[in-house]
Amino acid sequence: MSASKETSKDYRVEKDEEGRGFDLRLFKRLWVYVTPYRKLFFLSLVMLVIGTLLQLYIPYVSKNAIDAFMMRERHYASAVEERADYFRIEEGLWIKEDVDGAFSLIRKDGRFVLTDGAISVHLNQEQIRSLRADDIQGIDSSVLLLLILLLSVFLTNYIQVYYSNKMGQKVIYDIRTGLYRHVLKLPLRFYDHNPSGRIVTRITNDTENLNEFFTTAVTSILKDILLLVGIIGFMFFLSRQLTGYAMIVLPIIVLATTLFRFFDRKAYRKVRTRLARINAFLAEHLSGMSVIQLFNREKSKYGEFKSTNHSYYRATLQQLTVFAVFRPTMDILFYIALCVVIWFGSKDFISGIMTFGTLYAFINYIDMFFQPLRDISEKFDIVQNALSSAEKIFKLLDESAGSETDFSEGGQKVSDGAIEFEEVTFGYNEGVEILKDISFSIRPGEKIAIVGETGAGKTSLIGILTALYPIQKGRILIDGVSIDDYNVHTLRKQVAVVLQDVFIFSGTVVDNVRLFDESITREEVVDAAKFVNVDYLIQRFEKGYDTSLNERASTLSAGERQLIALARAVVRDPKILILDEATANIDPVTEAYIQDAMEKVTQGRTVLIIAHRLSTIRNADRILVFHKGRIVESGTHNELFAKNGLYTQLYRLQYELNG
Ligand SMILES: Nc1ncnc2c1ncn2[C@@H]1O[C@H](COP(=O)(O)OP(=O)(O)O)[C@@H](O)[C@H]1O
Ligand SMILES: [Mg+2]
Repeated sequence: MSASKETSKDYRVEKDEEGRGFDLRLFKRLWVYVTPYRKLFFLSLVMLVIGTLLQLYIPYVSKNAIDAFMMRERHYASAVEERADYFRIEEGLWIKEDVDGAFSLIRKDGRFVLTDGAISVHLNQEQIRSLRADDIQGIDSSVLLLLILLLSVFLTNYIQVYYSNKMGQKVIYDIRTGLYRHVLKLPLRFYDHNPSGRIVTRITNDTENLNEFFTTAVTSILKDILLLVGIIGFMFFLSRQLTGYAMIVLPIIVLATTLFRFFDRKAYRKVRTRLARINAFLAEHLSGMSVIQLFNREKSKYGEFKSTNHSYYRATLQQLTVFAVFRPTMDILFYIALCVVIWFGSKDFISGIMTFGTLYAFINYIDMFFQPLRDISEKFDIVQNALSSAEKIFKLLDESAGSETDFSEGGQKVSDGAIEFEEVTFGYNEGVEILKDISFSIRPGEKIAIVGETGAGKTSLIGILTALYPIQKGRILIDGVSIDDYNVHTLRKQVAVVLQDVFIFSGTVVDNVRLFDESITREEVVDAAKFVNVDYLIQRFEKGYDTSLNERASTLSAGERQLIALARAVVRDPKILILDEATANIDPVTEAYIQDAMEKVTQGRTVLIIAHRLSTIRNADRILVFHKGRIVESGTHNELFAKNGLYTQLYRLQYELNG
């Protein structure tokens, strides 16, 4: 795949899919989330330190068992007749332990012999066991100590892993909940600019990356560092010289690790970016499946996916190659270090500078040394990944939300339903005015129709009236109070909106009408449905009101959806009702039902209808004609028609022709 093709598709992928450097501020912000669980955190840290120290102590215990008991040289004084404290070897030989004794117990030709140079006496197993009873006892206690150590290591590890995971999960739970809460409060402006897939990634993948960071990476890196330092400490304590020799490979290790980090990071970024591209591709194309199939784009989309997938495949292979080189390199370095230790160590042992136990412990430590080394360099991915995720999460959290601090209602209530626009100017983006100098007023209970060509700004009017978008100039008053002075939740409770595109949530019909608000009873839902004439339609569904509607509601027609939305609005008994009529053609029967429903629904309410139907327009008390973001005409149908202006034109074109 050419580079240009790759970059040309990057709009679906975020630019900052790359790793992050070490940033102290990030850690500080993350720490805020850990604070409530710092007890768990410190407990697991303490366990980690204890467990690591115990683990480090194990080879040392073996060394002691070897040097102090196994390899202990014994000397004896002898006597030829029975004496107290003496141990009988044979008829004329009694011995007793004595540091300067003439007899030594040595191993010769695979057997133990007692010798003073001239005389050699073979000892059987039983005799040796009795002679070295205290050594055997010493080994027994060493093994017991080892067992206790192992058990303690197991226990501390268990506690550490359990608590660090618990802490991690709690932290992630908080972050995820906090994110969703924040996202709920974000202005719609934000959603216009951020594809939902990206926000989903924030709340799922990015928090998951952090999860791994909190549960495994932090503790295991700390542990690895502690192990490395501890091992070097123990080795240094055992033999400075041999430690020096063993560390001959250290520069090579540092070099290899640095190279690995460099190549791995490159490959890893590629993997991340390409995986993100696959996700973005899928998200977009699965939701647009009907278009793909209708326009016969399957083959080319398949090809496109295949090449996207293939570039991901190559990136992962590249990453694997880096690992495939790094791991064996580390293995070889390990064996080199081991050989160096054995080589020099055995010489030291032979020349008596070093005990066998020390050599044994040394080899153990070398073995221990390489595991954290490998681990730590590979864990860097997780850390880097987590930090870049954290940065993105914080970026989302830093998006300024509305002024509301919680979701509760309160303050000024809508009582009559009078609406007033005073020279309102609004645009979604700076410099582009969608609505200009809009002024009109609606008395309580009035029924206003808004007409105008597509793109005139009719739907935008709903957005600003319900405070979904802030206006730039002028004032919008409801019952004489600026909408800025209302609590948005209180405001929206009295202002119900039926949008052109009705969003159906996954759930039953009842759920969708009451929008999961348990305070609305099933009876109220049924009443509302009857009121807006959608009851007969719902009865036709296989499970009636309990039929589950899927997310896309592809099973419902546009008319049915509008009626359900109408029921949604009516069940809340709002003072102000705003309707954006579906432009889609509706069959005459449904049309009649909707018209009848409208007449009932609009009784006793202030109603603002963006009208596409002739009947709606004729029944309106007043009509506002929008053109390019301005109100150009207003009045009743007859008044406007008599003017023979834009309304007459629109009316003729849009309504009579379609009529
Ligand atoms: N969320 C948005 N962000 C930016 N521009 C928008 C947004 N929604 C609508 N617009 C633009 O505002 C203008 C008016 O749109 P709209 O109010 O939907 O018109 P109408 O409902 O009258 O057809 C159009 O040019 C449209 O492209
Ligand atoms: Mg519209």
